[in-house]
Amino acid sequence: MKNRELFNLYAGDIISHELFLQTKHIFSHGIITIHDHSIAVAELAFSMSEDNPRIDKKCVVRAGLLHDFFLYEWHVPGRRYMLHGWAHPAIAAEKAREIFGVSDKEYSCIRTHMWPWTLFHPPRCREGWIISLADKLVALKETIFNRGKRHPLRQFPTTT
Ligand SMILES: [Fe+2]
Ligand SMILES: [Fe+2]
Repeated sequence: MKNRELFNLYAGDIISHELFLQTKHIFSHGIITIHDHSIAVAELAFSMSEDNPRIDKKCVVRAGLLHDFFLYEWHVPGRRYMLHGWAHPAIAAEKAREIFGVSDKEYSCIRTHMWPWTLFHPPRCREGWIISLADKLVALKETIFNRGKRHPLRQFPTTT
């Protein structure tokens, strides 16, 4: 990342917010928290955008930080776990709008980041494609480098 000051300018109010800090206690992939995952996605998306004047950097940072802002523990057996991949983008987008007043473009980037999982909601702008790609790259890295270190709540379903 070349311009850390600009990143911090766009990220500051979110990363210091008490609700965003709650994501330190919610897990993403394996032992990685939503907090660390979201910052990694925002940083990668920002780095990918820095040299392109057509990309809205503020949108990329804020949507990156809030793309998984759903604020619930999904590693529990049952419907929530089964539907999480499909349902959480809309939940995160609504919460991001409610708490941080995200722009329509930021909302759209959050809403579409899981495509193609959410088949009928593909990214609608360059920033949306960048967030979706950055999320997948970070998730892949987290999965590869943390193999075998699964969050304890993920030791289900049990067959006994
Ligand atoms: Fe997500
Ligand atoms: Fe994510």
